Amino acid sequence: MEADFLECLNLSKRYGNDPPALQEVNLKVKTSGIFALLGRNGAGKTTLIRILATELKPSSGSATINGMDVLQNASRIREQIAVMPQEARLIPWLTPRQSIYSYLLYRGFSRDEASSKVRSALERLELGRYENVLNRHLSGGVKRRVLLTTILATDAKILFVDEPTTGLDPVIRSDLWRKLNELKKTHFIFLTTHYLEEAERLADMIGILENGKLLGLGTLDELRSSVRYQYGIRIAQDATVSPDYIPTSNGEVMSGPDGSTQIFTTEEEAERLAVRLFKEKKRFSIYPVSLEDIFYYLVRKPIEEDTTHDPILEKSRVLES
Ligand SMILES: Nc1ncnc2c1ncn2[C@@H]1O[C@H](COP(=O)(O)OP(=O)(O)OP(=O)(O)O)[C@@H](O)[C@H]1O
Ligand SMILES: [Mg+2]
Repeated sequence: MEADFLECLNLSKRYGNDPPALQEVNLKVKTSGIFALLGRNGAGKTTLIRILATELKPSSGSATINGMDVLQNASRIREQIAVMPQEARLIPWLTPRQSIYSYLLYRGFSRDEASSKVRSALERLELGRYENVLNRHLSGGVKRRVLLTTILATDAKILFVDEPTTGLDPVIRSDLWRKLNELKKTHFIFLTTHYLEEAERLADMIGILENGKLLGLGTLDELRSSVRYQYGIRIAQDATVSPDYIPTSNGEVMSGPDGSTQIFTTEEEAERLAVRLFKEKKRFSIYPVSLEDIFYYLVRKPIEEDTTHDPILEKSRVLES
C-alpha cells in the first residue's frame, strides 16, 4: 500500500461461473502521466476500470489507489476520481454546458462553483463555441470532447477513460490525443485502448492485458527489451538478398506483404547488416520493433501451437523463435 501508486495485488474477477475476466493481476504504476491498458475485445479492461472505480467488487485480491483501498476506502476514492465509461452517452436534448453543469451539481458542487468550473473546462478543451448547441447536433468527436470535459471539470486528478477514441476518424483521434497529452501534465490518466498506436503515442507506461491476464507492463522501451529481437530491417522488393545476409541463429526472416524482405534481429546484428546493405547500395529501412510486434509476441506466447493458420498470430512467430 503506497501513496502515489496504483496497485493491484493478485486481483481476480469472475462473473458467475464464467471463466475469470481477470486472473491474478499484479500491477503497480505511478499515479502521474498516462497509463495505457492495451487489450483486445473481452480482455478485461473495463472490468479492471470498474473495480478500480469502486463500481464492482473483486472476487479476490486487492487494489489501492494512492494508498486507498477500493473496498475499505471506496467513498474517498470516489471523491478523487472521475470516470468516462466506455458506453457514456450525452443526453441529446441538453447542451454541453447544461450536461457538464448538471454533472457537477450531482458531484456536490454549489451552483456558483459549478458555473465557474464549466466555463474554465469548456475553455480548456476549446469547446466554447459548442456550449449552447444541443448535444444531438454535435459530431461524434465533439461529443467525446464534451464527455472528457465533463470529467475534467470536476476536481478529480485521477481520470479513468475507457476507450476514448474508439470509432473516431484519424483526424479527430489525433486532436483528442493532443488534449490528453496536455491533460497528463496535471492529471493521472488511466486509459484503455485497442489501438496500439494510441498507447505508443500517449502512454508513459503500458500494460498488456489478454484473457484477464497481465502479460506485459512497462515503458515502451522496457517492453521492447522483453522480446528477443529489438530491431527490424526491411529490404526493398527489388533488391536481391543473398542467403548469407540472414543471421540464422540471431534473427528471423520473413517476406513482407509487398514482396520485400523483413529481418528481425538484435541491435548488434542490425547494425552490422545495415552497414553492409549501405555499402552495397541496397534500398532498406531499419526500425526498432513496434508496439504492434511486441503486442502480438506477448499475446501469442502463452497460446499453444493449435493456431497454425491464424494470420494475426503468424506475425508473432517472426519475433518468437
Ligand atoms: N457484467 C458482466 N456480466 C458477465 N460477464 C461480463 C460482464 N462484464 C464483462 N463480462 C465478461 O468479462 C470479460 C471481460 O470483459 P470486459 O468488458 O472487461 O473486456 P474489455 O477488455 O473491456 O473488452 P472491450 O474491448 O470489448 O470493451 C468478457 O468475457 C465479458 O464477456
Ligand atoms: Mg471494455
